[in-house]
Amino acid sequence: MWYKNIRLVDDNQDFIGDICFKNGIIIAIGKNICQDTDAIDFKRFSQYVLFPAFTDLHAHFRDPGFTYKEDLHSGSRAALKGGYTAVNLMPNTKPVCSSMEIVHDVENRAKEIGLITVNQTLSMTKNLQGQDFEHLKHLQKGEVLFVTDDGRGVSDDEVMREIFTICKEKDAAIMCHAEDPKFSKTDMRVAENNMTFRDINLFKEIGGHLHFCHVSTKEAIEAIRKAQKEGHHVTCEVTPHHLFATGSEVNHYRVNPPFREQEDIESLILALKDGVACAIATDHAPHTQEEKEAGAPGMIGLELAFPLCYTKLVKNNYLSLNQLVDKMSTQPSRLMQLNKGKLQVGMDADFAIFDIENEFTVFEDLFESKSVNSPFIGRKVFGKIIQTIRKGIIFQW
Ligand code: DOR
Ligand code: ZN
Repeated sequence: MWYKNIRLVDDNQDFIGDICFKNGIIIAIGKNICQDTDAIDFKRFSQYVLFPAFTDLHAHFRDPGFTYKEDLHSGSRAALKGGYTAVNLMPNTKPVCSSMEIVHDVENRAKEIGLITVNQTLSMTKNLQGQDFEHLKHLQKGEVLFVTDDGRGVSDDEVMREIFTICKEKDAAIMCHAEDPKFSKTDMRVAENNMTFRDINLFKEIGGHLHFCHVSTKEAIEAIRKAQKEGHHVTCEVTPHHLFATGSEVNHYRVNPPFREQEDIESLILALKDGVACAIATDHAPHTQEEKEAGAPGMIGLELAFPLCYTKLVKNNYLSLNQLVDKMSTQPSRLMQLNKGKLQVGMDADFAIFDIENEFTVFEDLFESKSVNSPFIGRKVFGKIIQTIRKGIIFQW
């Protein structure tokens, strides 16, 4: 299958050319190289851009246990609708993913559905209760990529220290939801900062790989920057929603961590530019309307991630399209050890095609997710999805 005369953009290429894929793999890419008369010609669609499909380091598909909000099928569809073909799922399901049995069950069911690539993370403590980490001791080295108690922070310092030690041994990265519960009710800025500082301090003595989820404050970014400068393997992700709006712009829509201030947004953008933040991850967190009304934190994110980031970051010249692809595709794919994230011969034929000049108003019918909890409904954004291609299979939107 040939696509020709289309703008091809990855982390370090941006040109109008031709790309060919076969059996789910890219087999040729270049300028004016297509001789095939059956090729699909995009010459009339100069506003279309083909990217390597995105990879989300942080999503909640609620399966098992909360499938009325989302399940592996609807979550996979939401991912595809956003241009994503791979996701890393959080373990706060019911039962919690605290055993390899549950992890394998989720991954196997996702594989049967077959729409996207799913990695299921393992909880750091048993049932996210912050104490028991016996299950980590039984892991083989390299058996899991990530462990996390996302949704909560582990408050016991000694427990956290031992988890760092075990995870280093097992070669598992720790994805930290930095929120010190002592301050959750009173000051969510102190809550995030305090746990970020604590984790970095403990981690420095031990090593391994510490990754901070959804970093949202300028103080946390500063601490991570400093740890990186000192040579520690600390990485972080930021979300499209924390980049896109301040709390007052979305009427303080409830999400953890909360929407922040303009100065924080500037610090997150700088972190993307100078590499302190290696990825943009959605924290796709579906909830029903009743649950939102009762105060559940979170918002869906997969379908809107690219439009929000493109509109805010690229249209305002903070980032180039290359840099955006690096954060949404190349680097997260590398962290998840996938053969994707670049437009290169031999890589998976996973692509997302967007019309970047199409400005549209966000309506609920955009979402493939079972839930529609988003503060951005009604907003105007740029970047309409045209096609998602996964291992050569085309989804036309
Ligand atoms: O807003 C959030 N919602 N933040 C989290 O960390 C968890 C998530 C959820 O699971 O709903
Ligand atoms: Zn979280």
